[in-house]
Amino acid sequence: MRHMLDITDWSIEEINGLMDTADDIIAHPEDYAHAMERKKLATLFYEPSTRTRLSFEAAMIELGGHVLGFSEASSSSASKGESVSDTVRTVGCYADIIAMRHPKEGAPTVAAQVSPVPIINAGDGGHNHPTQTLADLLTIRREKGRLNRLVVGMCGDLQFGRTVHSLMNAMSRYPEISFVLISPEELRIPGYLRENMRKMDVPFMEVEKLEDVIGSLDILYMTRVQRERFFNEADYVRLKDSYILDPEKMALASAELTVLHPLPRVNEISHSVDKDPRACYFKQVLYGKYMREALILKLLEAKA
Ligand code: NCD
Repeated sequence: MRHMLDITDWSIEEINGLMDTADDIIAHPEDYAHAMERKKLATLFYEPSTRTRLSFEAAMIELGGHVLGFSEASSSSASKGESVSDTVRTVGCYADIIAMRHPKEGAPTVAAQVSPVPIINAGDGGHNHPTQTLADLLTIRREKGRLNRLVVGMCGDLQFGRTVHSLMNAMSRYPEISFVLISPEELRIPGYLRENMRKMDVPFMEVEKLEDVIGSLDILYMTRVQRERFFNEADYVRLKDSYILDPEKMALASAELTVLHPLPRVNEISHSVDKDPRACYFKQVLYGKYMREALILKLLEAKA
């Protein structure tokens, strides 16, 4: 049975296929309105979420299906000590597919080992977030018309930002991609990711100042500092406003720049940037719903 645990488990051809389906759903939503009739999606969210959970639910509803689930661990039997494995075996008796977010890295992989239905990783700790990457890729493809030949800037909390890790792993498989990694020293990408980039011969540079490099970027992917993954609040307070994208910095960037952010934003993009045509983070929100529709269709078609 197929799952979506890590973006690298899916080939570039398969991911391109999901984007083609999403484009087709956008063009002809009526063709998909009954595709998942009588099917149920369960959303098991052990961590807070707005976009990911609600876009999964909206996606399933737009496909004619139904949704059930919980949005906090405290309202599930996890609060009584039930394991993820037992919860998933249980929910697998009620639902056809499960989207799960969990603070522990690898929890969706553990779930997939016992689950009778496909598991989608909707974010596992500071590790991965493959369906956010699907949203990011579709946004880039629709804005730029391509996923190759791009200079991609990643800015903010590159250590704990799971969306950054999944997006780098996905994009490094397209030709002629290079990364400009912009972060404070303490929030640089994890060592394993640096090794992956070296092994795959993907060019990257690591810098601290956004102003120095913004002019060279095709894509700027902003992220918030991940407060919930810090060991102490003082470090968070010191680092949280390391980067604030404002109109002055946007003036240094190319007219063709695409600005992305997985959201939620805290202070890292000034609200005055929102009306700049290069700001695409709310389009990214919308495209996330279509990519989740495409993914649900693909996983349930593969299971049938
Ligand atoms: C991200 C996440 O949960 O990792 N949000 C999202 O799903 N769009 C980013 C974040 O929380 O900073």
